[in-house]
Amino acid sequence: MNITKLLSLLALSTTLSFSQTTMCFKQNHKDFSTLEKTPLDGGACDSKKSLTQMKTEGWSVSDIKIDNNNYIYILKKDELTIKNIDLQALENQILKRLEQKEEIENKNDLAERKMRMSISGKNMYIQKCQSCHGEKGEALPGQSRALDNMSLFDFMQTIRDYNNGSGYDRGTAFQMLPYANLMDKKDINNVYLYLQSINQKEETPTNKN
Ligand code: HEC
Repeated sequence: MNITKLLSLLALSTTLSFSQTTMCFKQNHKDFSTLEKTPLDGGACDSKKSLTQMKTEGWSVSDIKIDNNNYIYILKKDELTIKNIDLQALENQILKRLEQKEEIENKNDLAERKMRMSISGKNMYIQKCQSCHGEKGEALPGQSRALDNMSLFDFMQTIRDYNNGSGYDRGTAFQMLPYANLMDKKDINNVYLYLQSINQKEETPTNKN
């Protein structure tokens, strides 16, 4: 969670509570009793709106200056009544949005990384493994299990064990040994991901049958 992002968003939302001000005036108005209903000049009144009208539009008088028959009004209006918004709810909402966004970004990152790994795994598999293990890592009867059904742990472990000479040998380990030597941890991971990815593609249609 990026807290500075959140704070800047909150700061932005509080600026919305700033009220608007305008100045309207009337010169040479002799009859005070009709003043409220007389259109005022200047500002948001613009010679069209009287004080009464302005009040119905949410303006209130914050200051008034009277000089003989000249009147100057300072009017104020709250742009957005942030008081009515539950700040906690707003904060929660923002947090949730940011978390969702982060989650999506992470998922995209992961998917992209997985794809890249699976592509380099594909290259390696096709060039180095396919000739013996077949297109999809099928089982070699009497020699090797189906590679695409193995867990990553098993896959990793058996390959390393060939390196140590401590693992399976159904009499043909010598064939596998140079290839086990060839792969580091990353390669093993990548090849595994590739085998999983082609395995998944196979699964979708057969599941529907
Ligand atoms: C020259 C043929 C050959 C090539 C190429 C080859 N392998 Fe093998 N692989 C074998 C044989 C044979 C075995 C079984 C050896 C035994 O235990 O007797 C085996 C076993 C394995 C096993 C263990 C399976 C099990 O049932 O325990 C894994 C995992 C494996 N290979 C992965 C790979 C990968 C990944 C590559 C490519 C980098 C690869 N192999 C290239 C012949 C090959």
